[in-house]
Amino acid sequence: MRKTLLAIENLKVYYHTGRGVVRAVDDVSLAINRREIVGLVGESGSGKSTLGYAIVRLLPPQGKIVSGKIVLDGKNLLKLSLSEMRKVRGKEIGMVFQDPLTSLDPLQKVGDQIVETILEHVNISKKEAYDMAAKALMEVGLPPDRLDSYPHQLSGGQRQRVMIALATVLKPKLIIADEPTTALDVIVQDRIMELLASLKEELNTSIILITHDISLAAERADKIAVMYAGHLYEYAPSDEIISKPLHPYTQGLIQSIPDVFARKEIKEIKGNPPDLVNPPSGCRFHPRCPYAIEKCMRKEPAMIRINENRYVKCWLYA
Ligand SMILES: Nc1ncnc2c1ncn2[C@@H]1O[C@H](COP(=O)(O)OP(=O)(O)OP(=O)(O)O)[C@@H](O)[C@H]1O
Ligand SMILES: [Mg+2]
Repeated sequence: MRKTLLAIENLKVYYHTGRGVVRAVDDVSLAINRREIVGLVGESGSGKSTLGYAIVRLLPPQGKIVSGKIVLDGKNLLKLSLSEMRKVRGKEIGMVFQDPLTSLDPLQKVGDQIVETILEHVNISKKEAYDMAAKALMEVGLPPDRLDSYPHQLSGGQRQRVMIALATVLKPKLIIADEPTTALDVIVQDRIMELLASLKEELNTSIILITHDISLAAERADKIAVMYAGHLYEYAPSDEIISKPLHPYTQGLIQSIPDVFARKEIKEIKGNPPDLVNPPSGCRFHPRCPYAIEKCMRKEPAMIRINENRYVKCWLYA
């Protein structure tokens, strides 16, 4: 069995808008191993969701995959037809969307939605699919009688659990969770994260955890991938990223984590992310970077391999 489950190679995803072409994901390469939780972090607009949706090919119509490869278990997903891709979704890759209210059908009982997903992929009886759905609900800590509920009859945390049940019922190899806990209070957030971690243990699933919160990623993910303005700038084991961030952008993200106990000074990164219709030349972070040198404006640095698991894209390390 391959160690790498998902390999993204030189992926470019652009949105064609009235204002011009938004280069939302611009030449990103990233490999994710089996049984690995990878936190995908970065400020709003850095391209995290675009990358997540591109993997399952659920981009809005103006979003186009321009070039690159997305290889799941040896299979390039970009070469699959739409109907082949539909088979991959749900079965091999589960998706937990940020807002369960928009991704669950309000007019259908949650049990029917789960059963429908199951029957799309496996050839079993409706009764068997119901039993599977009930089991999936129990695995996410919901009583099976919730199968008869409509989404609006559930709390935010319960709906998020239903989304996770939907994403995991067919035991996919990969789960993409886009801000799965942003709308929830801290206690429910903790439970949901525990649940995702237990799925990794029990099902050997890999998880891409998309979050703007680098401290959440540090706590829950094995590795952290840092995106900025459509580029991947650093990728390393979480403990190494937190103890010794290399990229000035990563350093900025870590310094801006509020730390109520240490009362350390919070330093926000000055300035704002760029407009991706007209991104800065060279390193896209250079206008905000305290260490920028002339070269940073001129030329995009290559991704440098620091050690087996550690990568950074910055002239300071070239
Ligand atoms: N449907 C769309 N049409 C045009 N541009 C889009 C669309 N969706 C996203 N973008 C642009 O693509 C870039 C990346 O957006 P994306 O939503 O992937 O970022 P993100 O990192 O997920 O941000 P957030 O943390 O706010 O969810 C941004 O510049 C955004 O404005
Ligand atoms: Mg997003």
